Amino acid sequence: MSSSDTDTDAEIIDTIGVIRTKRDGGELSDAQIDWVVDRYARAAGHVADEQMSALLMAIVLRGMTRREIARWTQAMIDSGRRMDFSGLRRDGRPMITVDKHSTGGVGDKITLPLAPLVASYGVAVPQLSGRGLGHTGGTLDKLESIPGWRAEVGPDEMAAQLEKVGAVICAAGGDLAPADRRLYALRDVTGTVESIPLLASSIMSKKIAEGTGALVLDVKFGSGAFLKSEAESRELAETMVALGEAAGVRTRALLTDMNVPLGLTAGNALEVAESVEVLAGGGPEDVVELTLALAREMLDAAGLGDVDPADHLAGGQAMDTWRAMIRAQGGDPDAPLPRAPHSDTVVADGDGVMVGLDAMAVGLGAWRLGAGRAVPGEAVQAEAGITMHAKPGDRVRAGDALFTLHTRTPERFVAARAALASAVSLGDARCERAPLITDRVTV
Ligand code: URA
Repeated sequence: MSSSDTDTDAEIIDTIGVIRTKRDGGELSDAQIDWVVDRYARAAGHVADEQMSALLMAIVLRGMTRREIARWTQAMIDSGRRMDFSGLRRDGRPMITVDKHSTGGVGDKITLPLAPLVASYGVAVPQLSGRGLGHTGGTLDKLESIPGWRAEVGPDEMAAQLEKVGAVICAAGGDLAPADRRLYALRDVTGTVESIPLLASSIMSKKIAEGTGALVLDVKFGSGAFLKSEAESRELAETMVALGEAAGVRTRALLTDMNVPLGLTAGNALEVAESVEVLAGGGPEDVVELTLALAREMLDAAGLGDVDPADHLAGGQAMDTWRAMIRAQGGDPDAPLPRAPHSDTVVADGDGVMVGLDAMAVGLGAWRLGAGRAVPGEAVQAEAGITMHAKPGDRVRAGDALFTLHTRTPERFVAARAALASAVSLGDARCERAPLITDRVTV
């Protein structure tokens, strides 16, 4: 194993020196960043996992300047291939590409109705998505509950589907920012996920490498989000918007509240069913509100700021695009979704107005029922999850159903109930629902 190397500018770089620089609060040089990210991505043993873990923890504790974040992001992009959708055409005319990314939350199924809704206006939506880990759900896990649907789509097939249908939701190929793939897996097991430089560079390296023309970010804060405070989420949003714009991607962000789960379901097939309700013109108010707000931003970024996306939910065009998108990836949009053979009900133990519904507790409960995985690669239960029967602002009486729990493995009910034990706060007074969208961040 080589522990040191010479780089351009004749700067002598070695891994321990890079770690010490950051540990002591220094700024990493461009050459140090390029060297350490490149060597780690190549997995040839030049930078060991324990060394990168130490560096990641130093970054969590010491932070990074905007220059360092931009360079780290670029180094991750350069570790793989860049996609290019500039050649997409429909009816002989170039198609504009717009993507959306959410920083992750509980009950966050927005991508499912959003991608076909925006695509129904003739915009190409290449949505490379991930799987869930821990308490947050993953878009691919949700869609895989549709019989026949497959997440793997090659680049040529992706381009053809974008030209024909307008939207693709699929897994990112292994050559898209491979440095992030390794780093993310390491961060997940070393307590180094919640760091603005690491979150921003991880998300933006993939989005920039994906080659989208415009990007709308849904940056969440609150108990069910990676970052708990609105101030930290604002800083993350500002950092990501600056990174995107500097790379030539029209980027903007909404700050959204993730203290309370989105909608009335958390769990894969349950969330698909709720998304289909939204596409049919119904669905929970908060899911519709956020879908429409993000659709307006995406359409505006694509130069279609004068259309009202509510029209294509009401008119059925978004549903038609959804059905075509699911079919194009082998899925049957008419097939019944899997249903759990076992259910259990959690009831209110007193009267009052619901003043809080903790997103983290609901996410953990759904995960314990089998909706999420504890280690990468584990199978999830498509049918597992939680249906919520009341949201903050609703009046409940002792004995009213608060949650229905669904699973294939009823021995999980005890742990899921424990997670939900203090999920609900009841008060006496009327409670106004907190605003879902608290700000918009642009350059
Ligand atoms: N999603 C990502 O892509 N990266 C992170 O670091 C967290 C969420």
